[in-house]
Amino acid sequence: MKVLVTGGAGYIGSHTVVELQQAGHEVVVVDNLSNSSPVCLQRIEQITGKRVPFYKGDVRDTELLDRIFSEHNIDWVIHFAGLKAVGESVAKPLEYYDNNIGGTLKLLEAMKAHNCKKIVFSSSATVYGDPERLPIDESCKTGGTTNPYGTSKYFQEMILNDVYKADSEWTVVLLRYFNPVGAHESGLIGEDPSGIPNNLTPFIAKVAIGQLPEIGVFGDDYDTPDGTGVRDYIHVVDLAKGHLVAIDKLTRSGVYTYNLGTGAGYSVLQVIHAFEKACGHKLPYSIKPRRAGDIAMCYASCDKAKRELGWEAKLGIDEMCASLWNWQTKNPRGYNS
Ligand code: NAD
Ligand code: UFG
Repeated sequence: MKVLVTGGAGYIGSHTVVELQQAGHEVVVVDNLSNSSPVCLQRIEQITGKRVPFYKGDVRDTELLDRIFSEHNIDWVIHFAGLKAVGESVAKPLEYYDNNIGGTLKLLEAMKAHNCKKIVFSSSATVYGDPERLPIDESCKTGGTTNPYGTSKYFQEMILNDVYKADSEWTVVLLRYFNPVGAHESGLIGEDPSGIPNNLTPFIAKVAIGQLPEIGVFGDDYDTPDGTGVRDYIHVVDLAKGHLVAIDKLTRSGVYTYNLGTGAGYSVLQVIHAFEKACGHKLPYSIKPRRAGDIAMCYASCDKAKRELGWEAKLGIDEMCASLWNWQTKNPRGYNS
């Protein structure tokens, strides 16, 4: 199949492009490189031995999308492009709504104009807000989001649902990712955050390699086994494979929603200790106040994806940490190393 990957130079997108190409799919990437590097695309080509047709540009650019859909007979769109920093979204709500919701609207309009009606959308566990029960299954209440990033994901899900209601020929797949971490086993592609990382595992990796002095643990007084926040970390390669299975298996129109996680929760301290095993030395950390907007625990039930798609995560926390450490040591300054 021919797949248009928006945001394909980004962290999850690049890993998905690798899996798609290796499975024999044809891929076209559009990315404005606002949070990624063109080096990533060369690295993908190095891994797969296949060229990555690339359009540098914005998904809000109607003319560009028109050109892409005219030049390629696209079967599926996998839509990763968007802004994703929770804190930044609080400071810049209009930018986030414009990029994320505006981008999705323009993309859907172009798809409709070119009669391409199959889309996989990168949603997030954040749409569950403070979850009503654990593990979180797909029937849990959504909404109640606490920042513009999360709200934009929730709105985009609603928009996609409405598109299907208006035209039942669409296939809409909403994949709600839990916490993606790790990197490709080659160490050629991985997460390359600009500046000081907001997320836990890239922060730990930068402490481990000596670029940051110590890890701040945001709160040790949560109602969790060791008091620190618990999350469902999923290896980015398992996550990428989830997209592949979705486009292979979902041949009938409809709206499909799946959690992609492992179903296991790890605390901040457990992740730090797992990373110590991977890098072979102790990591300095200190307890800091809670971070605003954080919840105590978030982990998925992934039974639906297993039952309906035959997909389940295969890699555990040790593989996640080892692959991240491999990427970090081979690329100490990311793609600019
Ligand atoms: P990323 O920032 O690495 O990748 C996003 C890519 O989209 C980047 O390459 C960026 O340059 C590009 N982009 C952004 N706006 C664009 C636009 N308007 N037009 C064209 N390209 C644009 O992020 P990621 O971690 O790979 O996340 C991919 C998707 O998954 C995002 O939609 C994100 O919200 C979602 N998601 C991520 C996580 C996570 O923890 N990483 C969790 C849940 C959901
Ligand atoms: N944490 C620390 N120190 C840090 C960073 C994080 O203790 O320096 C803690 C957090 O308090 C939390 C856990 O580590 O308990 C994980 O935090 P992350 O920032 O790595 O991830 P979040 O669960 O907060 O959010 C991530 C993405 C969101 C996405 C969500 C669910 O950033 O965009 O996963 O997919 F919505």
